[in-house]
Amino acid sequence: MDHFAITNGVMHAEDVPLPQIAEAVGTPVYVYSRATLERHARVFREALEAVPDKLIAFAVKSNPNLAVLKVLGRQGMGADVVSVGEMRRALAAGIAPDMIVFSGVGKTTAEMIAALDAGIGQFNIESEEEGIELAAIAAAKGKVAQCTLRINPDVDAGTHDKISTGKADNKFGVPISEAGQIFGKLAGLPGVNLRGVAVHIGSQLADLAPLEAAFEKLGALVKALRGAGHVITHVDLGGGLGVPYRIGEVLPAPAEYGAMVARVTHGWGVKLIFEPGRVIAGNAGVLLTRVVRVKRGINDPFVIVDAAMNDLARPALYGAYHHFEAVAPSGARMTANIVGPICETGDTFAMGRECDKLEAGDLAVFRTAGAYGATMASSYNSRGFVAEVLVDGDKFAVVADRIEAGAIMDAERVPEWLI
Ligand code: LLP
Repeated sequence: MDHFAITNGVMHAEDVPLPQIAEAVGTPVYVYSRATLERHARVFREALEAVPDKLIAFAVKSNPNLAVLKVLGRQGMGADVVSVGEMRRALAAGIAPDMIVFSGVGKTTAEMIAALDAGIGQFNIESEEEGIELAAIAAAKGKVAQCTLRINPDVDAGTHDKISTGKADNKFGVPISEAGQIFGKLAGLPGVNLRGVAVHIGSQLADLAPLEAAFEKLGALVKALRGAGHVITHVDLGGGLGVPYRIGEVLPAPAEYGAMVARVTHGWGVKLIFEPGRVIAGNAGVLLTRVVRVKRGINDPFVIVDAAMNDLARPALYGAYHHFEAVAPSGARMTANIVGPICETGDTFAMGRECDKLEAGDLAVFRTAGAYGATMASSYNSRGFVAEVLVDGDKFAVVADRIEAGAIMDAERVPEWLI
């Protein structure tokens, strides 16, 4: 459930009519709802009530906006980060270092040092090589890095190939077949306290079965590791729960996920870490856009909006569906191709989509844009970076300025020898 709805013929974010935001901030603009973020955080937490010892670490990559992190931090969430940039954001938002976990296959030396200095709670080590380097860095500093070893369970998550992470040929984690041996090697090193294992098999999962299969494999591994004399106190189950993008689409609810987790992990006797991103932020945001013009087409008309693939990359990158609707629907419908202004055909949000009838100047939204939306924006076609707004009841604030194309150009230099 979200807080974007039509009231008196106009879509509101909570109590704020979207045209008011478009007027004040311009378009395109991402609009987030605080009440929705808080609701999703609460629902996820309640779904895991049966898990006694846990940390829910929001996947910062899904929406790294400082204000969003502040809202979620206040809900008791930690942070799952994959770069020093994300770590700094989480810290700046007031999330305690010990509630931050650092994932990612390519942590640089500088990042490991920064994370150790910040005192983050956990490193999810993704390879033997990384573990050896981290151990050396930590030992040289006289520190002990708290770690889990990320396992690649070779489970097909059944999601889009580009966001699937748990198959044997994906770059993530260590092969489960070698996990025992690598764990043994790393656990013996000074500088690390290898206290558990981690898994994340992919994103936008529409089915709990692959997750369950991965967790079962992890449970067996925990047993085997304990059998080999290791002390296992932490297991990180990653994120991945999908959200409905289409009206009426039904996905596993957080409560079903929570029940499955409680059942599978019963008796493990560990602290469980969760890294949800999309399920928290996805439906808490929309991308508000204005129709530039409607162009006649051979088949369907092209509704050309002022948002483009640089603002919302998911349709171009993954062929993703984002529900599109008018802010002030007249009731009339049309079938249209919905496109942005960027000069490539990939800048297409939908072809032959049945939607509200729209004309030049009308406002519309792409829904479910709160996760992997603004965070994946670029300045392609020198369009600048999209602005972000957070709504709270009847008030709203710009939480990320629009970075105009001119400001990006200002950061560029023509060398003297070219002038
Ligand atoms: N933990 C790890 C280690 C991850 O790699 C990810 C996402 C998450 C947690 C959060 O997963 P979530 O709960 O949000 O599914 N840009 C793509 C999604 C990429 C996800 C990458 N990893 C998209 O727009 O669909």
